[in-house]
Amino acid sequence: MATPWNLRVKETVDFFKHAVDGPPQVVVILSGGLQTLTEALDNKQVFHNQDIPNFPKPTAEGHRGDVVFGTCAGQRVAVLMGRSHYYEGYSMLDITMPLHALHVFGAKTLLISNAAGGINPSYTPGDLMVIRDHINFMGDNPLRGIANQSKQQFVDMTNAYTPSLRQAALSLAPQVGVTLHEGVYLATSGPSYETPAEIRAFRNFGADAVGMSTIPEVIVANFHRMQVMGISCIANLAADLHSGGMNHAEVLRAVKGAEPHLVTLFLRIIERLGGNGVHVNAA
Ligand code: HPA
Repeated sequence: MATPWNLRVKETVDFFKHAVDGPPQVVVILSGGLQTLTEALDNKQVFHNQDIPNFPKPTAEGHRGDVVFGTCAGQRVAVLMGRSHYYEGYSMLDITMPLHALHVFGAKTLLISNAAGGINPSYTPGDLMVIRDHINFMGDNPLRGIANQSKQQFVDMTNAYTPSLRQAALSLAPQVGVTLHEGVYLATSGPSYETPAEIRAFRNFGADAVGMSTIPEVIVANFHRMQVMGISCIANLAADLHSGGMNHAEVLRAVKGAEPHLVTLFLRIIERLGGNGVHVNAA
């Protein structure tokens, strides 16, 4: 029989306790290809996913599988470079194992980014969008079979993205010099991009951007009552606005172009967190 999930989490946490200088307060999960945030960290320790028990091994093009621990603005930070995706064939539990473990190890806040197609016609590739809310269209849930073994069988998602962190991002955006929208992110399982008809339906649902990630981690973060901020990098126009021939190279190029803004925004947010890694300014 497969090892129960909580024992797998414990095994990973035990590994971290022995190998890492101290528990992180903040977890940052980056869109594929982004590396410069880790350059801002001091006292770095780098681990490859394949050396960490129960961490999935990324297979997607442009996604490296490393975890970098370090310090930044007085916070201990763990950066997951090269998250794993549901579309790679992993289970929802596999892809959220790192977050379960990093939370149990100590992290209270999740900062997460993704690449997305712009459904809202006012969005332009290269813009950023702070996620106000999401629509889980992935057809699965990472807490299935897990939450019922815990004290919290049903998880509140009414403020899945911490309002004060969203506000902080919106007020910092002009200083960072970036167009920051606020909107609803919808995720499909992927790996196919959407058809124009699907995008029209998603627009009617109220979605502003579409991608293939992030929602599993945000559900798990809410299960653990972590604070959450999510940023989508609008990499391309969604399928019904696109001229045709959507491809991953276009996405990677746009994400790379938006990287300096995204990284600066994340670093400014980290600077605003309190000593325990939690954002307290609810105003
Ligand atoms: N659809 C889904 N996922 C994406 C897209 C898109 O248009 N762009 C980047 N990731």
